[in-house]
Amino acid sequence: MSNLRIQVPDSDAMLRDWRHVHNVIIPTAPLSLDEVRERVHRNRLEVAYLGDVLVGCTTVRPPKDGSATATVIARVLAEHRGQGFGEQLYVRGLDHARALGADVVETVVLASNVEGLRFALNHGFVEFERYVLPGDDTPWIELRLAR
Ligand SMILES: CC(C)(COP(=O)(O)OP(=O)(O)OC[C@H]1O[C@@H](n2cnc3c(N)ncnc32)[C@H](O)[C@@H]1OP(=O)(O)O)[C@@H](O)C(=O)NCCC(=O)NCCS
Repeated sequence: MSNLRIQVPDSDAMLRDWRHVHNVIIPTAPLSLDEVRERVHRNRLEVAYLGDVLVGCTTVRPPKDGSATATVIARVLAEHRGQGFGEQLYVRGLDHARALGADVVETVVLASNVEGLRFALNHGFVEFERYVLPGDDTPWIELRLAR
């Protein structure tokens, strides 16, 4: 399997790449570039390339306010799926969350992302909440790592 180049965005071009992957995969809640710029300070965002080709991105929301819960989200563009890239991104995000002191790890999947839901369930996550945001039709599913 090919190895990805995975890094924290350190340029506007990389922030745009992170945003592109996010917005293609989450079309119901697209982020502006300014919102991404704000998130890069709050969360651990990474972007992944195969050579120069954009493949995916990650979000790790660190534990906050004395909690020990972090959120790990891996995203891979549809044309690059099924080659183990999601696994690479997820494991790296999980390692990062653990290094930040997370005892509990959650993820969140848009219900229309069937492959994302299957991936999460196959990796030991269990659904604990499902909700629809105002003005939206597609439920969000929150899952927690059970093992
Ligand atoms: C979840 C997601 C990141 C997975 O990305 P991916 O690159 O397809 O992930 P992988 O290739 O590691 O694994 C996907 C499947 O391909 C299989 N696979 C991996 N390498 C393979 C290979 N070389 N040959 C055949 N199959 C392979 C895996 O076993 C896995 O099978 P499964 O779905 O039956 O469990 C992607 O579907 C996605 O971006 N979804 C939307 C975002 C989302 O909902 N993320 C939340 C989950 S954290």
